[in-house]
Amino acid sequence: MNTEIANFNYYNPTKIIFGKNRIEELATLIPKGEKVLITYGGGSVVRFGTLDKVKAALSEFEVGEFGGIEANPTYETLMKAIELVKAENYTYLLAVGGGSVIDGTKFIAAGALFDRNPIHIFGAGLGDKDPITKALPFATVLTLPATGSEMNSGGVITFVEKKAKLGFGSGVTFPQFSILDPELTYTLPTRQLANGIIDSFVHIMEQYLTYPVGAMVQDRFAEGLLQTLIEIGPKVIEEDNHDYNLRANFMWTATNALNGTLSPGVPTDWASHSLGHEITALYHIDHARTLAIVLPSLMEIRKHEKLGKLVQYAERVWHIPTGTDDEKATQAIAKTREFFEILGAPTHFSDYELDSEVVDLLVGQLEKHDLTQLSERHDQTLDISREIYRNAL
Ligand code: NZQ
Ligand code: ZN
Repeated sequence: MNTEIANFNYYNPTKIIFGKNRIEELATLIPKGEKVLITYGGGSVVRFGTLDKVKAALSEFEVGEFGGIEANPTYETLMKAIELVKAENYTYLLAVGGGSVIDGTKFIAAGALFDRNPIHIFGAGLGDKDPITKALPFATVLTLPATGSEMNSGGVITFVEKKAKLGFGSGVTFPQFSILDPELTYTLPTRQLANGIIDSFVHIMEQYLTYPVGAMVQDRFAEGLLQTLIEIGPKVIEEDNHDYNLRANFMWTATNALNGTLSPGVPTDWASHSLGHEITALYHIDHARTLAIVLPSLMEIRKHEKLGKLVQYAERVWHIPTGTDDEKATQAIAKTREFFEILGAPTHFSDYELDSEVVDLLVGQLEKHDLTQLSERHDQTLDISREIYRNAL
């Protein structure tokens, strides 16, 4: 096991336009002459006036719309958007929404220029996989802090018939720019705010809770972001709390949780997401809520392998100074579970009316998607994943 910081390249080309009323600047950010397709979700941006603001800002551009991208965006819907882009020769995409709309737009951007059927973007049992080498330029107006998709190059797509949720990514699927206006979060329901806090929290943990390699900067960035979420989380979900700085801190934390800042040169463990995506694919539970089920259980089952970092997490993030290493780790895990519960996200399958029958079905899905050697050491076998699911019942 390597205990040094690994070599790394670090590159992030997405320009961030942060603050109040920045949508007005859209016309100066998108190159003149582009034919722009605005993409959005189930209608929140229509209801709350964001789409109108975007269209007003783009009055000098030739603009079209593609709405109806679902939460957990589906391949089936996005393929329709790809057809539209090709038929009407759009040259630029603008995603207005949360992670689902942004992920979907990344897929549209790549799929529209992909040489083969875009199903070959995925692999993982759906066929052979080709790399994404080109994509239409696109940008985003973020309405939901959670996924970091506004400043990273990855996406996750749902396949309805195949009951699968699969990721993709490439060096050419970064947004050119993202507008982050914290005031756009004021219309979010409590459930989505809590989801955003939990998703961000787990993204940070997956780049932190592995084994120590002495990466002081990455570790302390992660610990600072985790402490910020712990401090502001309960206030962010207070009804009608429209404190600007609170929302601004939340939004910027969520972006930094998954924009490449935390992972250079350090081991990462994306097992919580892998196990969580299977739960959403089969049972349609919100992405973040699946993570609230999986992460505390994973921490319990993998306590021994992750002890070094768990103790550091206990001491520096939760300020637990005393006890044996095992006691500190146990307390920090309990604190993590409690944090999710305080935010209103239950941490057991039974809270979602699911019972022991789900375990084998979920493990079967992991096997089908080749997710048989997870974690920073690639030693999370299907048997260990089964134990993690079972421990979360
Ligand atoms: O669809 P509309 O009507 O717009 O409503 C949405 C949706 O119902 C609503 N919403 C968004 N902004 C709003 C708002 N409602 C009121 N006011 C606003 N300002 O919120 C609901 C959820 O939106 P969604 O975009 O699905 O949420 P989120 O941002 O949490 O994205 C989840 C998706 O991102 C993927 C997840 O797997 C999931 O498919 N992820 C993407 C990642 C990435 N690209 O790096 C990483 C993440 O781990 C995650 O896997
Ligand atoms: Zn996530």
